[in-house]
Amino acid sequence: MSTTAQVPAKLKVPFYGHARQYHSIKREIDEAILAVLESEAYVMGPTLERFEKELGHYFGMKHAIGLNSGTDALWLAFMALGIKEGDEVITTANTFFATAEAIWIAGGKAVFVDSDPKTNNIDPSKIEAAITSKTVGIVPVHLYGHCADMKAVSAIAKKHKLWVVEDNAQSIDAYGDGFKQGELSDAICTSFIIQKNLGTFGDGGALVTNREDIATTVKRLRNHGSLKRSVHSFGFNSRLDDIHAGILSVKLKHITKWSDQRRKWAKRYTEGLKGTSLKLPIEVPGYRHVYHLYVVETAKRASLDEFLHNEGIDSKMHYPIAIHQQEGYPWGKLASIPHGVPQAERNAAQCVSLPMFPELTEEEVDYTIAKVVEWDKKHGK
Ligand SMILES: Cc1ncc(COP(=O)(O)O)c(C=O)c1O
Repeated sequence: MSTTAQVPAKLKVPFYGHARQYHSIKREIDEAILAVLESEAYVMGPTLERFEKELGHYFGMKHAIGLNSGTDALWLAFMALGIKEGDEVITTANTFFATAEAIWIAGGKAVFVDSDPKTNNIDPSKIEAAITSKTVGIVPVHLYGHCADMKAVSAIAKKHKLWVVEDNAQSIDAYGDGFKQGELSDAICTSFIIQKNLGTFGDGGALVTNREDIATTVKRLRNHGSLKRSVHSFGFNSRLDDIHAGILSVKLKHITKWSDQRRKWAKRYTEGLKGTSLKLPIEVPGYRHVYHLYVVETAKRASLDEFLHNEGIDSKMHYPIAIHQQEGYPWGKLASIPHGVPQAERNAAQCVSLPMFPELTEEEVDYTIAKVVEWDKKHGK
């Protein structure tokens, strides 16, 4: 970074840029919303159907099913895969709460394994030791926008005849070394909540799969067990509204450009923060990291976070209290940590997320870098 000398003395840097993004494509978004309003088809209408086709095409997969959240996408996937009370599902301890919550909602036992200290994603070398006769599946999470090692996860799953559901709530548009999302799993579950890389103005989610059986079951489950008007079996109400589908259809056209912009800011942060005491995010060679979050780590996290807020920078933490460290865990639900999760606990204790969204300005990124460097000189070492 060459311009730190010109950074302003004080600047307010927001963590999110929702309105900035809206203003950058306002005409397209407004038209899409108005078209749905005029259509009078607001639920399970043609806009949803069109968006599902576009999303399936984008992933290069046969079926995409719009749902009302990423959490629902996960537990509906588990139900479609036939999860039974007490079945064990292996996942990472280093994830947003909803990954484990979805296992519990579906009646499963959440089995937490540790994360890889380099990527903070599930550590495949820790998975086999957690497999028992009750294990039915694995849920890798592509945390912060970097894919988990799906080749290793899928090889273990094949060996032990387990299903794999990818939680890609944070990683749309990312890929791994020689694999695309969905290629090495039974289904992908994604979230469209506002702050995600592909986010609507509210809640939303989707399940994407090549498996006909999963697609049909989830379509039925999301709509009161119904694929045909007035004909029902047991199900729920978890549909993506057409208004959100219309918004997402517009935004999907911009996603790769927005991911590239996130990558540009990440590169600038990494160059600017090289040589500080912070542990910086890494991109494994061959992978495309889409930087849903740019997370640095320091043992003096509270000090860095306070310093940045005093300087007008809205840093956040993802996630400062690990799932198993939340009060009341596991709330009477089935859960186990067979071999400890020290890396996940370290990440929870040390993580600080710097502002990261495509519509950041160079001035804001450089100001943030300058302030982190200033903190590091005073307190980092
Ligand atoms: C990793 C992960 N899994 C699942 C979810 C749940 O998605 P939603 O908020 O749409 O239910 C989120 C985000 O919120 C997430 O970050």
